[in-house]
Amino acid sequence: MNNFIFENATKVYFGEGCVKEYLCCMAKGCEGKIMLAYGGGSIKKNGIYDEVTGVLKNAGKEIVEFPGIMANPTYAKVLEGAKLARENNVGLILGVGGGSVMDCCKAISIAARYDGDVWADFWARPGIFDFEPLPLGVIVTVTGTGSECNGGAVITNEELKVKTGRDYPQCNPKFALLDPTYTYSVSKFQMVSGGFDILSHIMEIYFSGPDESNVSDDISEALMKNVIQNLRAAMADPKDYTARSNLMWDATMAENRIIKLGKRMDFECHQMEHQLGAYTDCNHGAGLAVLHPVYYRHIYKDGLEKFKRFAVNVWGVSTEGKTDEEIAGAGVTALADFIKEIGLPTTFRELGIDEKTDFKAIADSCAIAPGSYRNMTHEEILEIFKECV
Ligand code: NZQ
Ligand code: ZN
Repeated sequence: MNNFIFENATKVYFGEGCVKEYLCCMAKGCEGKIMLAYGGGSIKKNGIYDEVTGVLKNAGKEIVEFPGIMANPTYAKVLEGAKLARENNVGLILGVGGGSVMDCCKAISIAARYDGDVWADFWARPGIFDFEPLPLGVIVTVTGTGSECNGGAVITNEELKVKTGRDYPQCNPKFALLDPTYTYSVSKFQMVSGGFDILSHIMEIYFSGPDESNVSDDISEALMKNVIQNLRAAMADPKDYTARSNLMWDATMAENRIIKLGKRMDFECHQMEHQLGAYTDCNHGAGLAVLHPVYYRHIYKDGLEKFKRFAVNVWGVSTEGKTDEEIAGAGVTALADFIKEIGLPTTFRELGIDEKTDFKAIADSCAIAPGSYRNMTHEEILEIFKECV
C-alpha cells in the first residue's frame, strides 16, 4: 500500500426523513443568510423545495435563492453565485441537487471569499488556501458522483473549452443530508447514468496498482457487486427503498476517499469524458459508459491479472477451458453487456454526439493519467474516440 493521511470532514445524516429531522438544527447553527442553490427546477416538481424552504423558514432563516445551476456547471455560473453570496452577506450555502449543484457550490464557496482569479489560481493549477471557504451544506437529490463527501468540484470553462476538477479538503461540505426517497423522482436515464458513474469511480481506482493484497480492492469488489445488484433492483422498482439506499451509500463510499487510500488510481476515462463534455456538453455517466469498454479493450492485457480477477469475482465468469486473456476479455464483455442491459448508450452516436465533432482537438486536450496500466498517448486516445463513434 502507498502511504496516506486520511480525514473526511463531512458529517453525514442518512435515511428517510433526515432533512425534516436535522436541517433545522444545522440552519439555526449558522450565522447570517442561507443561499439556497439548486438546478433547473426538479426540486420544485417533486416537493423537495417546499420541504427544505419550510424547514428553513421555521428555523427563522432568511433565504437567498440561487437557481438554474446547469448539468456540467460553468465557471460563469460560479462567478454569478459568488457575486450573489457576497452582495447578500451569505453565511452558509445550501446546495440541493446532484453533482452539478454540489460542485458549483464548492467553487462558489472559494470564489465568494477569494479576490484573485479563481480559475487561474484554483482550477488551472492547485490552489493555496490562506482563507476559509464559505461554509457549505448539501442535500443530495440524485445519486452518482459522491460529491457530497469530498472536496471535488468539476467545472467547465466554456471560453477555454476545459472541464476539470480539483479535490480540496477545505471544500468538503460541513454536512450532507442523504434521504434515498429524494431520488425516487429521478428519471430512469439519469438513475442508470449516475449508477454507472459509481461503477466507473470504483473501477478507476480498482484498475491500478498496487495490486498485492489490499483492503481497497476487496472493498471495491463488494461495492461493484452491490451497485450492479441494486441498479437492477431499482430499475425493476424505482421506489425500492433498499435499492435506492444502497446506491446512495455506494456513491458516497466510492468517492469519500476511503477506497482511494493506498492506491495509485487511473481516472483516464474520466479525463477523456470530461474533455468530451467540455466540447459537447454530454451527460457524464452516459459518456463514461461509452468509453469504458473501449478503453479497457485497449489496456486489459497490461493489467491481465487484475482484469481476470474482475471477471471472476465481480461478474462470475467461468475460467474453465479459457486462457488468461480470454477470462480477462470476458470480464470486459460482461461490463459491456451490463451497459446495454441497463439501457445506456454504447456509441457516441447513441449519446447524441455528432460524428463530425473535432475528436482530434478533444483527444489532444485530454490529460494523461499516470496511474493507468498503460499510459495513453493523445494518438491512442484519438483511436479510442474513433472506435466509440
Ligand atoms: O437540474 P434539475 O432540474 O434539478 O435536474 C437534474 C439534472 O437535470 C436532475 N435531478 C436531480 N435530482 C433529481 C432530478 N430529477 C428528478 N428528481 C430528482 N430528485 O438530474 C439531472 C442531472 O443532475 P446532475 O447534478 O448534473 O447529475 P450528476 O449528479 O451526475 O452530476 C454530474 C456532474 O458532476 C461531475 C460531472 O462531471 C458533472 O459535471 N462530477 C463530480 C464529481 C465530484 N465532485 O466528485 C466526480 C464525478 O466523476 C463527476 O465528474
Ligand atoms: Zn464520475
